[in-house]
Amino acid sequence: MKILNAEFIASATEPSQFPAGGLPEVAFAGRSNVGKSSLLNALLGRKSLARVSRTPGRTRLLNFFRVVLSDKHGAEFVFVDLPGYGYAKVAKAVQEQWGPLIEGYLAARSALRGVVLLSDVRRGEQEEINLARWVQEQGLGLIAVATKIDKLPRGQRVQGIRDLEALLDVPVIGCSAETGEGMDAVWKAIRALPARPRN
Ligand code: GTP
Ligand code: MG
Repeated sequence: MKILNAEFIASATEPSQFPAGGLPEVAFAGRSNVGKSSLLNALLGRKSLARVSRTPGRTRLLNFFRVVLSDKHGAEFVFVDLPGYGYAKVAKAVQEQWGPLIEGYLAARSALRGVVLLSDVRRGEQEEINLARWVQEQGLGLIAVATKIDKLPRGQRVQGIRDLEALLDVPVIGCSAETGEGMDAVWKAIRALPARPRN
């Protein structure tokens, strides 16, 4: 995918700070440290547009990025890097603020077309199942991704991805932000999201 331009537009800790939403929006969701910010950067061919960290809980805000593709349609999207859930070391008060903020965003944001749900290929968990179902119930497109496949020996990758598919009951795209594997497939899924907002 050729990217013409990708730029940060806004950070938000509350709905009043969300940018006006006209363009189709795609949110990246998943546990802390699963690789959301890394995947976003890899899709855009940028090293550090979204902040990546070894320390889980790095992304504490919703970060909005405007993306312009250089294909003949000049398609535009907004990518939203969400804070990760389920990181115990984050202060309880902060955690309590996250849930409602993210849930509120996913439930009410009318520009939102789909959610890229990331799971570590080495561990699928109940929380991912719940989020996958909930996203589908919201009438949003669900793009399930298994991250960090480079960390599994080649021979175990297919099984890892199949296990996640069985768990989530949807197709899963195996990805590595390190090697770039899976990026074309994720782009294809993003391009296939509904063009019109949900009702
Ligand atoms: P939070 O913002 O804390 O929720 O984390 P995040 O989901 O945005 O994860 P982030 O992209 O910051 O990556 C967390 C760590 O995993 C970093 O050390 C990354 O370099 C590493 N990482 C992310 N994707 C991959 C991948 O595909 N392969 C490998 N080997 N490491 C990865
Ligand atoms: Mg992040």
